[in-house]
Amino acid sequence: MRTLLISGASRGIGRAIAERALADGHRLSLGVRDQAALGGTALDPAIAGSDRVLLVPYNAEDSAAAQAWVELSCEHFGGFDSVIHSAGVFSRVGLLFEPGEEREIVSTMEVNLMGPWWLTRAAWPQLAAHGEGRIQVLVSMSGKRSKGKLASYSASKFALLGLCQTMRNEGWDAGIRVTAICPGWVNTDMAAAVRQGPSSRWPTQAMAAEEMTQPEDIASLCAELLTLPNRAVPFELALNCSLER
Ligand SMILES: NC(=O)c1ccc[n+]([C@@H]2O[C@H](COP(=O)([O-])OP(=O)(O)OC[C@H]3O[C@@H](n4cnc5c(N)ncnc54)[C@H](OP(=O)(O)O)[C@@H]3O)[C@@H](O)[C@H]2O)c1
Repeated sequence: MRTLLISGASRGIGRAIAERALADGHRLSLGVRDQAALGGTALDPAIAGSDRVLLVPYNAEDSAAAQAWVELSCEHFGGFDSVIHSAGVFSRVGLLFEPGEEREIVSTMEVNLMGPWWLTRAAWPQLAAHGEGRIQVLVSMSGKRSKGKLASYSASKFALLGLCQTMRNEGWDAGIRVTAICPGWVNTDMAAAVRQGPSSRWPTQAMAAEEMTQPEDIASLCAELLTLPNRAVPFELALNCSLER
């Protein structure tokens, strides 16, 4: 059994990861902006049990929130050994952004890059002390190649993948293993919002929701990763639901 900090568990991929991890017997500390979003669900501590699930207020743009989340998790569970970063935002802002749009570039960087950075930094002593600490990060195929014209989102995810490589390097000797998960389309609110918007910045064919990778598929991968020993954890998982040549 592991004790996991998971961001972005209110919806989408993070929520599927949390539900699967709970079903697998792990203990969860979930950092969420709106705790009411999980009320009455399997992830509600009133249903799962406060010995299994802790909800903590967390905004990825607030550096102090990461430290507070770590401290509350240690007080509640006596420590933890894994962090899964799934909180993230999409941005359509492009290379030749309009006046004022630079604010969205900064906030995209704050959530997608600095959020995982602050949280990893705060969690590091716990992960390093464990000997088999784990970090899983929802990056994106947009962190490996730029296919459309989404400069803000792509830049945040390329930077995040660079951060993951450094986490891997710095954590290796302490037994911390990092996995950067890089999906294409995943059937969540985020994918729906991207596809409903103007296509001028994203030249792909329409894809039915059921053809996309499903959040539960990612949750299965994350669950399997947690079972692997230090000698066998992959650093990067690129998964496509459509052919990329
Ligand atoms: N869906 C895809 O096609 C796809 C593909 C590749 C990678 N990804 C990445 O996978 C991750 C999860 O995406 P998703 O599809 O599950 O997205 P989603 O359905 O839009 O959910 C986003 C999650 O991030 C949380 N979040 C956003 N801003 C936050 C902030 N400032 N502080 C704390 N939490 C915040 C949201 O919380 P609230 O409920 O409070 O808003 C929500 O839980 C993201 O990093 C995304 O970039 C997604």
